[in-house]
Amino acid sequence: MSRQFSVSYNFLFSAAVCGVCAIFVSSSAVTLAERQDVNKLLDKKKNVLQAAGLMQPDEKIAAAEVEERFSRFRPVVIDLKTGEEAPDVDPDTFDQQKAKKDPARSSVAPKNSSLVKRLPDHALVYEVEDEAGNLEMVVVPVEGYGLWSTLLGFLALEADTRSVVGLAYYDHKETPGLGGEVDNARWKALWPGRKALDESFEPKIEVIKGSAGPANDDPYRVDGLSGATITSRGVTNMMHFWLGDEGLGPYLERVRQRKGAA
Ligand SMILES: Cc1cc2nc3c(=O)[nH]c(=O)nc-3n(C[C@H](O)[C@H](O)[C@H](O)COP(=O)(O)O)c2cc1C
Repeated sequence: MSRQFSVSYNFLFSAAVCGVCAIFVSSSAVTLAERQDVNKLLDKKKNVLQAAGLMQPDEKIAAAEVEERFSRFRPVVIDLKTGEEAPDVDPDTFDQQKAKKDPARSSVAPKNSSLVKRLPDHALVYEVEDEAGNLEMVVVPVEGYGLWSTLLGFLALEADTRSVVGLAYYDHKETPGLGGEVDNARWKALWPGRKALDESFEPKIEVIKGSAGPANDDPYRVDGLSGATITSRGVTNMMHFWLGDEGLGPYLERVRQRKGAA
């Protein structure tokens, strides 16, 4: 014999179930948010390592190994306008993407083809020194619009600031198989050994439509991503913006001076 419950009983029972579920969902969102942040940071470090040629794109390594390899990198917050180190900003807590959105810590960017709208006052770069303390490489952030999204990545340069060590993107929403091929290991392998800047230290590297020659013969050009001319152009634009005077130019100049002084 089935028992009939009152309308108010059913209502209260459903409300209690919803309440328990809401508490469960919100508490897991809060607990997982922390883990997501940790994973995001780890992924960023892996991309710095990949740009620097210290991790293969298809390599699977544990978090401890990432930290171990990353320990050679010194995070440095720089003042974008002067290129000098900003000792009052903590590199361990500085978030360039957040700083860019904060009017107190950023300014409107000059018009640029990379569609960068705001420039943070500071940028986070990574420096690697050899055992004798000489600067070996710098890894700098690059970002700019492709077709559907802003691509965020890292470009590693030798201490001469011209020679490319590697490039890696850690965030974008370009189409897999088209613009998303910026993540393709074979395409990324075309970058090391090219020259990002010309002999006068002006940005020159370009992702062309079609195929470029080997790095030694054709140092300023990289193969285009097939069927993705717009993303390819976006990569060129962001290189020119970030390696130029409006972006990291003052910092790269300071790196060259330091190297000359060493
Ligand atoms: C569904 C769809 C997704 C696309 N995704 C991209 C993309 O991520 N990057 C890109 O440059 N072009 C993308 N394209 C192609 C562009 O619309 C454009 O045709 C292309 O950039 C021209 O490149 P091509 O001259 O090498 O063919 C996409 C096209 C379609 C229909």
